[in-house]
Amino acid sequence: MTERVAALVERLCAGERLSEPEYAALIEGRDEEAAARLREKAVAVRKAVYGNAVYVRGLIEISNICKNDCLYCGIRRSNANADRYRLTREDILLCAEEGYGLGFRTFVLQGGEDGYYTDEVLCGIVRALKRRFPDCAVTLSMGERSFESYKALCEAGADRYLLRHETADKAHYETLHPKEMSFDNRMRCLRDLRALGYQVGCGFMVGSPGQTPQTLAKDLAFIADFQPDMCGIGPFIPHKDTVFRDRPAGTVELTCFLLSVIRLLCPTVLLPSTTALGTIDPLGREMGIESGANVVMPNLSPVSVRKKYMLYDNKICTGEESAECKNCLAMRMASIGYEVVTDRGDRKQITDAG
Ligand code: SAM
Ligand code: FES
Repeated sequence: MTERVAALVERLCAGERLSEPEYAALIEGRDEEAAARLREKAVAVRKAVYGNAVYVRGLIEISNICKNDCLYCGIRRSNANADRYRLTREDILLCAEEGYGLGFRTFVLQGGEDGYYTDEVLCGIVRALKRRFPDCAVTLSMGERSFESYKALCEAGADRYLLRHETADKAHYETLHPKEMSFDNRMRCLRDLRALGYQVGCGFMVGSPGQTPQTLAKDLAFIADFQPDMCGIGPFIPHKDTVFRDRPAGTVELTCFLLSVIRLLCPTVLLPSTTALGTIDPLGREMGIESGANVVMPNLSPVSVRKKYMLYDNKICTGEESAECKNCLAMRMASIGYEVVTDRGDRKQITDAG
């Protein structure tokens, strides 16, 4: 490690934030020694806040129908090869019923921006889930909606909302999305969600086409400022039916490095070790936890639709039953000395993480 990188690493370990040029220099100059030091401190900080608990969230992929055309995404509207589906309220309640029996106390409803889920329909689903499972948290990840829509969903009982910002660099955002989508609207959504009192998650793909140490530096500065309750980062993985089909996937190494940095910038953040990380390396999710993550999201979607929610090639966990997915993750976590915890797992408010 150069002296400059070592000094930046120590400042992060001491709980300081860096400037954008400093984040970029850290990313450019990183090596295994720097990663190991950040990892060790990130795990210590995470342990001080959450012990060795890893929270599970039951992911229900409710629709792969989407009006958007994000260039990287396998379910973008212009992918004519995608076999489209959507789950009804009854389908979703059945998944949640099964998940509840398996111990899940958070349900994450994720899907494309499918016009079927009007406020009336989605609020009805949220209300039904909260009525049936009052001790559970409901997280939505349904994309960009109006302030009024987010407000109605919040009043219906939604607790959390995941909306990755995708990149904090406006010019980079524009290369990843079609003209009709805007960086400003994405950021407006995140601000609205925060103002409405949701627990809010942002995040980005590591190694997305056009990403540089400078754009990543903006992501880190944004995350340090925004202090999200959750932060989803996982490697970009190409999908065969998108324009980015030949681009290289993000790496486990850089994803894990950034997980450690984010843990240090946001000690209490709920940080998933993602399915995408498990897709590019069989032990990716374990490595994510050992770098500072503390959430896993087993799939609760009906097996019949799993292969259809194909955001990227070779996605794992598309053949298993929900119980198998949960048991597999519990065993994986136990193998590295962590315990899967099935309570709601709200973000802890401790700010002095030691
Ligand atoms: N429509 C919602 C939204 O926009 O937030 C939720 C669904 S969207 C598919 C969920 C996330 O999948 C995106 O935020 C993106 O970061 C991730 N994703 C999409 N395509 C991907 C790819 N090729 N590799 C890795 N992650 C991808
Ligand atoms: Fe809409 Fe990916 S383009 S979910």
